Formats: sequence, C-alpha cells, structure tokens
Amino acid sequence: MTNQSKFNLPEVYSTLEETLESAEKILIAAVNDAKTLFHTPVVSSFNDNQITSRVMVLREFSLKDRKMRFHTDHRAAKINHFNKISTASVIGYDPELKIQIKLQGNISTHYDDEITKTAWEQSTSRSKKCYSVKGGSSKEITNPEDYDIKDFEVESGYKNFSVLVFNFNSLEFLYLKSSGHRRAIHKWDDEYQSTWLVP
Ligand SMILES: Cc1cc2nc3c(=O)[nH]c(=O)nc-3n(C[C@H](O)[C@H](O)[C@H](O)COP(=O)(O)O)c2cc1C
Repeated sequence: MTNQSKFNLPEVYSTLEETLESAEKILIAAVNDAKTLFHTPVVSSFNDNQITSRVMVLREFSLKDRKMRFHTDHRAAKINHFNKISTASVIGYDPELKIQIKLQGNISTHYDDEITKTAWEQSTSRSKKCYSVKGGSSKEITNPEDYDIKDFEVESGYKNFSVLVFNFNSLEFLYLKSSGHRRAIHKWDDEYQSTWLVP
C-alpha cells in the first residue's frame, strides 16, 4: 500500500480545504511513524544573522493549537539562539507523496517545567538515553569514542532535556504533479486566510 492511499489523500486537489486536511493527516501520522519522511523535518532558525538548519524528530503536531513539539539537549548552543531570535521555519518533502509542507513561526524553549516533565514521561528509554551523553551537544572533542554512552542511569538525562515548542502562523502546501502543480498557503494572522499560489 502506498502512503498516498494509506492516508487516503486526493489524487487531484480542487479545494484549499483539501490541502490543509492532507497536511494535517500527514503530520499527525509522521509523529509515530519513523518511516514517513515528515517524521524528521528540517528546522531552520537564526544564530544572530546566520541561518542554521538541522533535522529533528517531530514529537507532536496539532493543527488546532498550531504547534509542533521537538526535543533537544538543553546544553546545545541553539537553545540560546532560539531564546534570542525565536523566528523559525520547518520544512519537509516526501517524494512518494510528491508533497512539500513548509511552516513559518516561532520557537519557545522549555526546561524543567510541566511541558518537559510530560514529554520526558512519554519518552522511551531509547530516546532518554541520548541526554546522558557527557559534555553536551556540539562540544569540540578529540576522541568520539570517549563520548559513546555506555554506563548511564536513564532518568539522570532529564537534567539535560529541553522541549522546543514551534508555534506556526503559516503553512504552505506544495503538490508536484505533472498534470498540474498545486500550491496553497494557509495563514493565521489576525484571522485565518488561505489562497492558491502560482507553484
Ligand atoms: C534522523 C535525525 C534525527 C535527529 N533528531 C534530532 C532531534 O530530535 N533533536 C535534536 O536536537 N537533534 C536531532 N538530530 C541532530 C541534529 O540534526 C543536529 O545535528 C544536532 O541537533 C546539532 O544541531 P545544532 O548544531 O543546530 O545544535 C537528528 C539528526 C538526524 C539525522
């Protein structure tokens, strides 16, 4: 079964609502399905005036609340970057679906609060293990083997655990199909608006 039929997506998009509904189906499914390419979208943000991008695992998606959740190491330099400039963009593309989804918004960081506690409780031991690494993400080292995670107490990683909440105010949907590309933008400014764009 192809992903297109699995998600029951239209072959042809004739309404803007269909593009938003499809994006929602794809992103909700991506949270628990590591095989879909939207499980690991690219998150871009600013480090002062430089754009930085990285792949991250999508942990939660809610269209109603217009939010995505990501997890990261609290010691990573990007935490300070998000706190300084919260503007961020998330993008993914699935060649089987021929769909790109791009979202613009802002990232807020969370550390040792109700949001991180709930997220940590819902995490698997395998995910928790990453946060027991010595030194923290991006530290310059001479021997990577010294940083392989061997002896660790899984719950001790919580002190290094951060949650990133990405609140989006626009979602762009692009469907590439030889019979006619379709591009739609959905925006939530003062009020919700959507329109087709030239692809
Ligand atoms: C498949 C995949 C999944 C990843 N998931 C995460 C993640 O959920 N959180 C995270 O902080 N880094 C994740 N990374 C690592 C980041 O892409 C990146 O290398 C790391 O966070 C350092 O990025 P920075 O220099 O922007 O801080 C993942 C990388 C890959 C290849």
